[in-house]
Amino acid sequence: MEKRIALIEGDGIGPEILAEAVKVLRCIEERYGHHFTYVPVCAGGCAIDRYGTSLPKESLEACLDSDSVLLAAVGGPKWDGVDPSIRPEKALLAIRKELGLYANLRPARIFSQLKHASPLKESIVEKGIDFMVVRELIGGVYFGEKKTETVEGELRASDQMAYSEHEIRRIAHTAFQTARKRNGRVISVDKANVLDTSRLWRKVVHEVAQEYPDVSCTDMLVDNAAMQIVKDPSQFDVLVTENMFGDILSDEASMITGSIGLIPSASLGESRRGMYEPIHGSAPDIAGKNIANPIGMILSAGLMLKYAFDLDEEQKRIEDAVEQVLSDGYRCADIMEEGKTQLSCSEMGDQIVKTIRTMSR
Ligand code: NAD
Ligand code: IPM
Ligand code: MN
Repeated sequence: MEKRIALIEGDGIGPEILAEAVKVLRCIEERYGHHFTYVPVCAGGCAIDRYGTSLPKESLEACLDSDSVLLAAVGGPKWDGVDPSIRPEKALLAIRKELGLYANLRPARIFSQLKHASPLKESIVEKGIDFMVVRELIGGVYFGEKKTETVEGELRASDQMAYSEHEIRRIAHTAFQTARKRNGRVISVDKANVLDTSRLWRKVVHEVAQEYPDVSCTDMLVDNAAMQIVKDPSQFDVLVTENMFGDILSDEASMITGSIGLIPSASLGESRRGMYEPIHGSAPDIAGKNIANPIGMILSAGLMLKYAFDLDEEQKRIEDAVEQVLSDGYRCADIMEEGKTQLSCSEMGDQIVKTIRTMSR
């Protein structure tokens, strides 16, 4: 198989973790006889430094010209003072919007090997943690009208939160179809006791639910959902929610599995071309130290093989290798426990590659 993959390393730990994902992809190419062309794309803070804007036109075009986009992370304190219109994060939001990637799938599943890395009590972890956060990705308060103005002598800022029926309907379909392939349970998270957008969300989700009589649908208010995720995560199968709630709840959901460094994501739209990105950021506090956990990034490359290229066996191979490496007692600093072997970011990538090579087909 021949594919063009746009690679956005971005900032902070981005280059370190992306290098490990590419190592793994090259190993898959070799083993399965595929040919991937890697197209480095400059976006984020590094693009501001080089070109004065976080997403040069050529970078967006390179993403549109590729079969898939693999993104590490963008942003960092260095660019906190830049004009909001060119912030590093704007590049990420613009790519999602321009590619029409309205559905962000963020799995929260605990590896059995990492039960002790979860901050939750053993009695809770034992009941199981395996759910999918389906986050709406190109609507809501992230993309509504923004304004900072002077009103009666003081500054006033506003961000509009808006959703149309169409935007809610398509993400609801994603959630129900996802649940159909899992355990058939959707929990829709909103703030319908306060927000008009949430009341519309609930109405449309219920309409779509009628088309999926085999899938159950329950509503939950977002504040309660944040609490239930730590009280009893086993109750969740598919959690569907709007953009900002999904951003916050998915970081929370990641941590109960041991570390945010473990969780991949797939950002999908109508076309086959998606973007694949770990859910964490550029981790400026550990950048340049070769200690970041590359597993979320590597599993994101795996999701790309599965969703964008239909390479299910290759994706499974990557996931199995990650599990094997954990079973063999290897850890990165974020999930380190007594009696295990701590690896750097690059050593973890090497260990996963080595394991893929030695696994029989
Ligand atoms: P963050 O996710 O970068 O880091 C939060 C904490 O988690 C830090 O302590 C960090 O060290 C740790 N962490 C994150 N990834 C890790 C990994 N792979 N291995 C080990 N530890 C890891 O969130 P933040 O500090 O709030 O944000 C930093 C910057 O990243 C900001 O500029 C933010 O806008 C940006 N950001 C980018 C993305 C993205 O590009 N997709 C996502 C989130 C945040
Ligand atoms: C994420 C990030 C982004 C988001 C930021 C960097 C714009 O937090 O991918 O989760 O909020 O979507
Ligand atoms: Mn986030």
